[in-house]
Amino acid sequence: MANITLTTLNKMKASGEKFSVLTAYDATFSHVVSKAGIEAILVGDSLGMVLQGHDSTLPVTMDTMIYHTECVSRGNQGALLIADMPFMSFASPEMTLINAGKLMAAGANVVKLEGGSWLKETVQQLSRNGVPCCIHLGLTPQSVNVFGGYKVQGRGDAAAQLLADAEQLAEAGAALFVLECVPTPLAKEITKRVNVPVIGIGAGPDTDGQVLVLHDMLGITPGKPARFVKNFLAEADSIPAAIEAFSHAVKSGTYPAEEHGFKE
Ligand code: KIV
Ligand code: NA
Repeated sequence: MANITLTTLNKMKASGEKFSVLTAYDATFSHVVSKAGIEAILVGDSLGMVLQGHDSTLPVTMDTMIYHTECVSRGNQGALLIADMPFMSFASPEMTLINAGKLMAAGANVVKLEGGSWLKETVQQLSRNGVPCCIHLGLTPQSVNVFGGYKVQGRGDAAAQLLADAEQLAEAGAALFVLECVPTPLAKEITKRVNVPVIGIGAGPDTDGQVLVLHDMLGITPGKPARFVKNFLAEADSIPAAIEAFSHAVKSGTYPAEEHGFKE
């Protein structure tokens, strides 16, 4: 088992200590990221874009997620390992249990699913079977075709629905949340209302933890970076130093700054 567990993250939430999360898709980066003191590693389905060159996460398969989770697990030096359930892998309760079980067997400690309150029963079933889940809310990239693009979520009337989703899923037993691209005040409110750790990306400084895609924070992702991304390698002299700088910036509250967040 990882040295960092859900208990660790819950204690950090309770004491107000911020934690950081980075993606990793292979053993070498998993080793570097966990050695640098990052509390959790996410084997994100962003690998479909970052590693495979697709223009969305939709083509990512269970076999690919299993393979990369195994690789990351071998390199991991004690971080909590979260693995993404890919597009359509949790479309029915039965499929969800089988697929989540495969990721746990590959070395995950937690599985992450994109969605809202319709996942309540799924969350209950997974927890009963020993699988803690992280629910990804807000801009959920697997629903890009529903949203009509990668847009900020939870503005205006949608804020109340997002808050209700988070509360109902926390009630159902969700162990963690990721909030992506939601207004800073909404992320602050959700973080206050739910009793489990909330990890933000493009959600402002008030969540319990922060996550970034590793390649984004190293400044090597092609194209214009998203508003919330900061290149930590620009002022560091090595990749491990850049990762440590990210961790320190999150703990000290210097990242994310106001300009990295979204208004209501
Ligand atoms: O796939 C991923 O990397 C993610 C993070 C951006 C939260 O889901
Ligand atoms: Na993802």
